[in-house]
Amino acid sequence: MPLIELVNISRTYRLNQIRVEALRDVNLTIEEGDFVSIMGPSGSGKSTLLNIIGCLDRPSAGTYTIVGNRVEKMNDNQLADIRNQLIGFVFQSFHLLPNLDAAANVELPLIYRGLGGKERRRRAIHALEAVGLGERVHHLPSQLSGGEQQRVAIARAIAGEPRVILADEPTGALDSKSGENIMAIFTKLNKDMGITIIQVTHEEHIAQYGHRICRLRDGQILQIDETQNGRAVT
Ligand SMILES: Nc1ncnc2c1ncn2[C@@H]1O[C@H](COP(=O)(O)OP(=O)(O)OP(=O)(O)O)[C@@H](O)[C@H]1O
Ligand SMILES: [Mg+2]
Repeated sequence: MPLIELVNISRTYRLNQIRVEALRDVNLTIEEGDFVSIMGPSGSGKSTLLNIIGCLDRPSAGTYTIVGNRVEKMNDNQLADIRNQLIGFVFQSFHLLPNLDAAANVELPLIYRGLGGKERRRRAIHALEAVGLGERVHHLPSQLSGGEQQRVAIARAIAGEPRVILADEPTGALDSKSGENIMAIFTKLNKDMGITIIQVTHEEHIAQYGHRICRLRDGQILQIDETQNGRAVT
């Protein structure tokens, strides 16, 4: 059973009189352990695709199955459970709460899991150590560099032990060295923990960290390229 299977997925937005076909007949299968980069021009549907994969949005047509769950048959609460249990999100702009320190930011999603305070703290510290921030546990976001803030966001994503990380331009706001650092962390999470990674990026060299590059144009998949990394592991 594939982790993720999109069959003839379309997403149409209607705004006033204007109809935008953000995705048209997209077919994509992602196996557990894959590392996929999504590329394409601005407006080609990358974020729309990632939002559908992340169960933050629903397709207008087609079928989407994640770990055997048919998304179109699920209600909003069931979708929230899927997001909570399977998916960790990383965004370009980090989305950290400014008045909480690194550990508290990482703990936040674990509250919804019903974990006790001690277990939450233990997992948060562990996740921060995994991204090399064991010494920054009590720093506020404003006391961290951009690259460190993104690493806190990754720690928050992995603290819930997700099967898949979805990242929308995770290096978009970072200098190139911090960007490479984030890619080294993704590669490690993918290789050592088997976490499936799906990332959107505008940068070809960042995309090359994936096993496959899915190229979008006008809401359609133009082609899927295998990278050197893909060949090395298969
Ligand atoms: N909520 C919305 N309502 C109406 N149209 C939308 C909405 N969200 C996205 N669109 C349109 O759908 C298309 C795809 O948008 P999307 O955000 O997926 O592009 P993208 O590839 O992520 O672009 P970028 O690289 O600029 O982030 C665009 O033409 C956009 O204007
Ligand atoms: Mg986008």
